Amino acid sequence: MTLKNFPENFLWGGAIAANQTEGAWNVGGRGISNIDLIPHGANRQPIKLGYKKSALNDAEYYPSHTGIDFYHRYKEDIAMLADLGLKIFRTSISWSRIYPSGDEATPNQAGIAYYRDLFQTCKAHNMKLLVTLAHFDIPMGIVDKYNGWKNRETIDLYLKFAETCFEQFGEYVDFWIPFNEINVVLHSPFSGGGLTFDENENREQILYQAAHYMLVASAKAVESCHKMTTGKIGCMIAGGSFYPYSCNPEDVWKSMNDERTNTFFVDVQAKGKYPYYMKSFFEAKGIQIDIDSDAEILKQTVDFVAFSYYASRTSIADPSRVEKNEGNIIVSAKNPYLKMSDWGWVIDPLGLRITMNQIYERFEKPLFVVENGLGAKDVIEADGTIQDDYRINYMQQHMQAMYDGIQDGVPLLGYISWGIIDLVSASTGEMSKRYGMIYVDKDDAGNGTLKRTKKKSFDWYQQVIHQNGVEV
Ligand code: BG6
Repeated sequence: MTLKNFPENFLWGGAIAANQTEGAWNVGGRGISNIDLIPHGANRQPIKLGYKKSALNDAEYYPSHTGIDFYHRYKEDIAMLADLGLKIFRTSISWSRIYPSGDEATPNQAGIAYYRDLFQTCKAHNMKLLVTLAHFDIPMGIVDKYNGWKNRETIDLYLKFAETCFEQFGEYVDFWIPFNEINVVLHSPFSGGGLTFDENENREQILYQAAHYMLVASAKAVESCHKMTTGKIGCMIAGGSFYPYSCNPEDVWKSMNDERTNTFFVDVQAKGKYPYYMKSFFEAKGIQIDIDSDAEILKQTVDFVAFSYYASRTSIADPSRVEKNEGNIIVSAKNPYLKMSDWGWVIDPLGLRITMNQIYERFEKPLFVVENGLGAKDVIEADGTIQDDYRINYMQQHMQAMYDGIQDGVPLLGYISWGIIDLVSASTGEMSKRYGMIYVDKDDAGNGTLKRTKKKSFDWYQQVIHQNGVEV
């Protein structure tokens, strides 16, 4: 075993998100948000994808209503994370805790007080903070009254929320991200942007129009953040390079275009304008978006580029040729060279080095890995321990790849492990798809004591952080 040392001040972290942990959905004046209408079970996918409209229904179980009760337990949870040695903690602010319906004139003071105390608690433990403004949530007030991100007016409602956060929490937050995985709005429109579709609507027109409004909102948030705070503000996509399935030029061309549907977001946010190919893409699809009127505001560019990395993707021109791989939200072809997790996500550590290099080569801004981890089933042994060597193995390999990427010359601010405490899965709504180094006693139906237990990976990660390096 040799120790691979990371750069001084490398930010080792752990991430959660409000919508998957806080619970307390109707406590402290919080308004209903889109996530509260996404049940566990058969109706989850059609609702998440915007195919089916949802209304609260007693027969359904909604995991976000209780989460892991982080809302009430954050002091103990943050103390455990401090014990782990985290240098940085990532979470998000529930929009409907600050503006319950989205369009109130003034913010909800109980929501402000909650996040102030949470952030002060982190600071008291010497942790830096990376805060996502919108992590797959939007107040239902905005969805019902304004049609979510279909409507340009949502930009101003979002900006009011963002500016309230900058004003109230700017002194605590070191790094901001306007939208979690902004590209996901194209793939999971209701969870990503509060979008639903009527039968005869042009889905692609709506998706790219919503994406454009989110990009304008992001640029406005960047402008305000720079004026109002001393923190850095970045952008974030669900990362993972697209490989061509074969050297058939048709597959290579497909992979290039698939990559572009991800990275054009970063082009706008990091370079300040739409890339040249989006014009012909929109024309070919008959999508009409007035980009020129927003050209000036889009010039507000981010300070760093963040991404989540779980898996690479594989593109094939003729999908009927091979089996599909559902992977993380974006469907691609099955890569015969890679093993998969229990949930069918390919495991590709080298893909992280490839993704780091490709993104940096293209944007030349510091990068931040703000999510990575293995969703797996954990077993509690007779002695009460959880021996999650598979998770340690996954992380060790990804850290080695990240180390190699840094040796390649990619400036990387830090690594934030996803779901550092077990939480509700965004895709499936399950608790049994666990990412944490801290186990939470709760099952897929919502039963359990919520007791927290350190897993074997907790001690392992503690050592990695302590020695600022990984033994491989
Ligand atoms: C990312 C999201 O896409 O992947 C998280 O930002 C999510 O919210 C994570 O939880 C893992 O996905 P899942 O579906 O396994 O929870």
